[in-house]
Amino acid sequence: MTPKDIVAKWYENNDVLIFGHRGASAYVPMNTILAFELAAEQGAHGVELDVHLTKDRDLIIVHNFTIDHTTDGTGTVTDKTLAELKEYDAGSWFDEKFAGLKLPTLSEVFEAVGDKLYINVEIKSLAREADGTEEVVADCIRKHNMVERVIVSSFNPYVLKRFRPIAPEMAIGYLLHPNSLSDESHTILTPSDYEALHYYHNMIGSDELAFAKKHDKPINTWTVNDTELALRLKAQGVKGIITDTPDLMKQVLS
Ligand code: G3P
Ligand code: CA
Repeated sequence: MTPKDIVAKWYENNDVLIFGHRGASAYVPMNTILAFELAAEQGAHGVELDVHLTKDRDLIIVHNFTIDHTTDGTGTVTDKTLAELKEYDAGSWFDEKFAGLKLPTLSEVFEAVGDKLYINVEIKSLAREADGTEEVVADCIRKHNMVERVIVSSFNPYVLKRFRPIAPEMAIGYLLHPNSLSDESHTILTPSDYEALHYYHNMIGSDELAFAKKHDKPINTWTVNDTELALRLKAQGVKGIITDTPDLMKQVLS
């Protein structure tokens, strides 16, 4: 199956796909197994998560480039080994009742929810030059037989450009925020480098819809927690909604 076929199959029954943004992150600590499991319970079709390479070349799920905001530790993610990262509490910052939750690895997420959810793997990397992250991500996806259930995305166009030849069988989502229009992203990637467009929701206008149609790319948009906005985006033809509140989106989009 080609990457294009993989994504087309996800959308073949014409549902708008609901991806829990960092899991069901409105309700429980983001980017934890609990958040991903809750998204599945709430009826999400998939989840979005943020992955970083650890110092010892494993893959840890955490949003920021430091652990300061979502754990009881401090410091840069990539300066720490997996064992070090596993020592921190990734739940108390949200609520004391979640004390003891750990940052998961990408493997642990695949093992926990890979059989029931599509996984949007956002690679968080600022590297312009290759540092091996893409190979480690591709190997993990293959090892867990997740090729047909994963889309790899990134704001870093260099990451996506490198990922394509490393894993030509895998689907890629081109992640864009409003500032992308003024930077060099759009000169690095061409439509043959990705299968889906991941626009921030307020970027979607007639030009973006026409571009997506012309190049036959589904749009997955983020982060949509407002039901009226979700309905408007659905009416415009958006195919995927990335949300902190999968339960609300399920109610309104089903
Ligand atoms: O993948 C969409 C969205 O997660 C990108 O922004 O900052 O939430 O990782 P951010
Ligand atoms: Ca993200």
